[in-house]
Amino acid sequence: MAAKLIKGTDIREQILEEITAEVKQIKEKHGVVPGLVTILVGENPASISYVTLKIQTAHRVGFKEIQDSQSVDITEEQLLALIDKYNKDDSINGILVQLPLPKHIDEKKVLNAIDPDKDVDGFHPVNVGRLMIGGKEVKFPPCTPAGIQEMIVRAGVETSGAEVVVVGRSNIVGKPIANMMLQKGKGANSTVTIVHTGTKDLASHCQRADILIVAAGVPGLVKPEWIKPGACVIDVGVNRVGEKISEKTGKPIAILRGDVDFDAAKEIAGSITPVPGGVGPMTITMLMLNTLKSLKFKLGIA
Ligand code: GUN
Repeated sequence: MAAKLIKGTDIREQILEEITAEVKQIKEKHGVVPGLVTILVGENPASISYVTLKIQTAHRVGFKEIQDSQSVDITEEQLLALIDKYNKDDSINGILVQLPLPKHIDEKKVLNAIDPDKDVDGFHPVNVGRLMIGGKEVKFPPCTPAGIQEMIVRAGVETSGAEVVVVGRSNIVGKPIANMMLQKGKGANSTVTIVHTGTKDLASHCQRADILIVAAGVPGLVKPEWIKPGACVIDVGVNRVGEKISEKTGKPIAILRGDVDFDAAKEIAGSITPVPGGVGPMTITMLMLNTLKSLKFKLGIA
């Protein structure tokens, strides 16, 4: 294997240790810890497993964590009232409403009701605007793009002047990471191209990329011949392509595949993220970092 493996599992451990140490310091000096509430509506198994992991991680780093599970029948009005309650709660620095929500609830209305200064997901239009302006305006970069940028920086990849090609234009990954990489400053200052389903020649754009970020949701979309030798390849895709029996538990587990043909790509790239164990573990880590930042903004120490 030629490429250096960028492991999200290892970077997560480093960052969570840094957060734990900072939480301890703040607690000693200011007598408070970051407070995070996760609101889960209904019993979607994937949402339950995400929220459980978020809660476990929050406990691990020493946060106050409230899990607020609501019945699938909660009305939109009741959910908005709940958000209002946490907006006013001084001990809460981050509010996360796990998506997707049931169909009778307007997701946009709910996300827009969260106080932008507690919106640790970075989904509120105010935070999207802050991200677009860049620099000191940015409070909460959305977690997956923030994790991607952190991985690139910690892998020691030069971003200034680099050709970055982003495959995919979603509001959660493609658009924000493209925006972040073009800003002036550390871990950015790149020349950015976004390609998508309307792009005429995907391959030729990808072949120019010093840093190729793929968030298309199409297993194996990026072929090895699309990769510039020595490029940094960040694969955001987590596609379930089948099931297998876990050797550890004897139970069926999903077979996951990224958007990049990993086995072939790793022979050409300079560095590459695996799936699983690449970008995935970074999302919850950056949620913790945003929640810590929220408290630091409030204390005037950010
Ligand atoms: N559902 C899947 N991913 C996410 C996420 O990052 N944030 C929220 N709030 N819901 C999700």
